[in-house]
Amino acid sequence: MRIADCGLRIGHSSLVLLLALFFVTPVHAAQEQGIERKLAVLEKLPAKFSFVVLGDNRAGDPACDAIYQKLIAAALERKPDFIVNTGDQIDKPGNIEHWKRFWELSNKVAVPYLTTVGNHDAHIDVPGSEETYRSQVDLPGKELYYSFIAGNALFVVLDSYIKGEDKRITGEQYAWLEDVLEKTKQKHKFVFVHHPLYPEKGKGKHYGNSLDRYSVERDRLQALFKKQGITTIFTGHEHYYNRKTVDGLVQVITGGGGAPLYADDADGGFHHFVVMTVDGDRVRGEVVDMHGRTRDSF
Ligand SMILES: [Fe+2]
Repeated sequence: MRIADCGLRIGHSSLVLLLALFFVTPVHAAQEQGIERKLAVLEKLPAKFSFVVLGDNRAGDPACDAIYQKLIAAALERKPDFIVNTGDQIDKPGNIEHWKRFWELSNKVAVPYLTTVGNHDAHIDVPGSEETYRSQVDLPGKELYYSFIAGNALFVVLDSYIKGEDKRITGEQYAWLEDVLEKTKQKHKFVFVHHPLYPEKGKGKHYGNSLDRYSVERDRLQALFKKQGITTIFTGHEHYYNRKTVDGLVQVITGGGGAPLYADDADGGFHHFVVMTVDGDRVRGEVVDMHGRTRDSF
């Protein structure tokens, strides 16, 4: 067959191949790669690597989306090796259009993007929303809770919104968590869970109604974290930034990914993301706001 304009003589099969190459859109690296491949990359990270943590962006609400889009662009400038979202990735549980929007807004993310399930992602009173969550994410293990290794660190993501166990880490999940933490040989251990263990009293909207609602189970969880030497616990749900040390454990609430804020700026009520850098034995955190200002470091 002859293509007149370029005078190129090619066979039928070559033409099919050419057309296929022309029309096939390049797959989007972050979301289209299988989870096994993404995790294999993370496991081989060198001694120095970094990751970004943010949460409560609530895609689907245009006002939140504009903020999230700016934050994610600024976060990517830091060249993280991966991103972890602490939950409430979308506004309305089970809403496919909101998920579509979330992935559209995140389409510049070419590194693995790991999510935590929040009450806006899969609500116990919204039938089918958990199935929708699972269909939208590609995560290891049970997807709602899972662990993975990046460089010399263990990452554990928990589900604090299981029907009948909401705002508690109990049952099968707790037994799994104990086992994962007991068996790990990793130097650093990071935990992610949507509901904070210790929301701030007199601030935000969920004091007394997060993991602190069930103090016996919360205390047992904290004791396990203490026993196993968790490096940092990241949570969301409260739309502000807060860092505190409880019984020697660093607890970061990072719920400033786009949704309306629950506190004054001076009280942590600013939109932000957290950049964590692991360098061998050392771990450093930097909190960056919408204007690129460093608001906290630890
Ligand atoms: Fe939430």
